[in-house]
Amino acid sequence: MDLLQTIRQRRSARSFLNKSVDRSTLENIMADAANAPSAINMQPWEVHVVSSEETTRLSRKLLKRFKEHQITCGPGATQKIPDKFIERARRAAEGMTPLIEEMGTDFKTFVNTGSLKFYGAPAVLFVFIDDSFPPQRLTDIGSFLGYLVLSATGHGLATCPIGLVTSYEDEIKDALNVPETKTLVISVAIGYPEDEAPINRFRSERASSEEFVRWIGF
Ligand SMILES: Cc1cc2nc3c(=O)[nH]c(=O)nc-3n(C[C@H](O)[C@H](O)[C@H](O)COP(=O)(O)O)c2cc1C
Repeated sequence: MDLLQTIRQRRSARSFLNKSVDRSTLENIMADAANAPSAINMQPWEVHVVSSEETTRLSRKLLKRFKEHQITCGPGATQKIPDKFIERARRAAEGMTPLIEEMGTDFKTFVNTGSLKFYGAPAVLFVFIDDSFPPQRLTDIGSFLGYLVLSATGHGLATCPIGLVTSYEDEIKDALNVPETKTLVISVAIGYPEDEAPINRFRSERASSEEFVRWIGF
């Protein structure tokens, strides 16, 4: 698939087919993602790729913790976020809600428990960074994530980045035997999308570049 077409087609999927992804395909995607730029080429990403059986075990633990603590999807902000950004999140939730209701559930249950079940994906990638890196190096993980989701799209797969898991980092590190000195930045559900699932019809909106670009000297 042409790169620009891939960029324009990529979107998050929230329902996956019960069909495994070859390890060799996942290896190719990892190699593509590693082409991402990083500060002085340190490539600070560390990835744990977990298969569906392992993920099911992990999900059970995460859902138990969710029932106890109810930590849900949100911006994770410590200060008030300007209204225009909150409005974009509200519109995304509003767009997803009727499709989720078509699936017989409600938005909050679907997104929170769905995220912790990785939306049934056959594989999940957990991306860590060593604690010795400063917060600026999260930029490198973001660029790795961008390459990763585009490569997956190019391979005919779908993804959903899942940030909610960072609130359950201790359980995940414990289950995957990850050292204390690593921080979980993001997980990514990956697999073949279930095209018939109503939620996968959802298309998120984008602000026009006029809203976020200021041209100087043009
Ligand atoms: C850092 C990050 C964290 C995310 N966390 C979640 C999550 O926990 N659950 C979820 O359903 N989607 C999650 N998403 C997916 C976003 O909701 C999605 O990318 C956004 O709504 C834009 O839609 P699109 O990816 O289809 O273009 C996350 C995306 C990113 C980049």
